[in-house]
Amino acid sequence: MILLPLLVGYSLALTAGLSLKGVRTRTAIAGPAPATPPRKVLIVGATGGTGRCLLEQALARDYEITALVRDPRALALAHPRLRVVQGDVLDPAAVDEAVCGQDAVLCALGHKRFFPPSRVLSEGTRNLLRAMEGYGVSRFVCTTSLGLGDSAGRLGLAYTLVVIPFVLPFYFWDKTRQEKLIEASRTAWVIVRPGGLTNGPGRGDRRAGRGVGSYFETVSIPRADVASFMLDQLTDDAWLGAAVGVVRS
Ligand SMILES: NC(=O)c1ccc[n+]([C@@H]2O[C@H](COP(=O)([O-])OP(=O)(O)OC[C@H]3O[C@@H](n4cnc5c(N)ncnc54)[C@H](OP(=O)(O)O)[C@@H]3O)[C@@H](O)[C@H]2O)c1
Repeated sequence: MILLPLLVGYSLALTAGLSLKGVRTRTAIAGPAPATPPRKVLIVGATGGTGRCLLEQALARDYEITALVRDPRALALAHPRLRVVQGDVLDPAAVDEAVCGQDAVLCALGHKRFFPPSRVLSEGTRNLLRAMEGYGVSRFVCTTSLGLGDSAGRLGLAYTLVVIPFVLPFYFWDKTRQEKLIEASRTAWVIVRPGGLTNGPGRGDRRAGRGVGSYFETVSIPRADVASFMLDQLTDDAWLGAAVGVVRS
């Protein structure tokens, strides 16, 4: 019986930590938006669920895409406006090669190795931001998750009390580091925090904002709708310098 209050206490303490350590308010320190709309866009995580949606939708919107991928065979797509750079986001040389010459970067980096602790998200993002600042690439749109900073608790009770504390604690801690690096960068950034991701076609009924999500029910959104929202952020300055939640309405 004594175990239950201890576990709940741990979960709530972690939620408080994620709240304090993630991006909390609109900071308005994002760098200036580029004067011209981006044309050349790097996608990181293009072999993943959200990244694949980003890739297909970005090509449909006529962007010139570079995809930084560890295994080009996993992409299984050829297109005249798609260039593939093989490499790991943890390798600064590969990141430099992919970032050089771009107008913007879209990041849907993720992994499923939740234990032991890892810094893939934060260190990969550090490499991207360093290269972007070095080459003068301004616009950065990156997906993290609801449940961080001022959205702590908003993935719903099951995530707050069970999934994040017992399955994803290190992963979410790395995401807070990732968000803080983005916030401190000189890029024109938007952090996109989705609810639980689902597959299947986009529904187009997404709701975005700083107060979206629920403290009780699990909230979700199709990856395709997250991708279309991220692509919109390439040309829309409304959420520049902010972490914005996005869920199915
Ligand atoms: N699942 C959810 O319900 C949920 C909810 C909210 C937010 N999110 C977040 O949303 C984001 C996208 O999630 P997802 O499930 O669509 O992604 P995913 O399918 O897990 O794909 C992750 C992508 O990151 C790439 N990647 C991982 N490590 C890399 C490295 N070292 N170098 C280069 N690329 C690397 C993967 O490449 P490989 O193919 O080479 O592995 C893959 O393309 C993630 O950050 C995730 O945490 C997920």
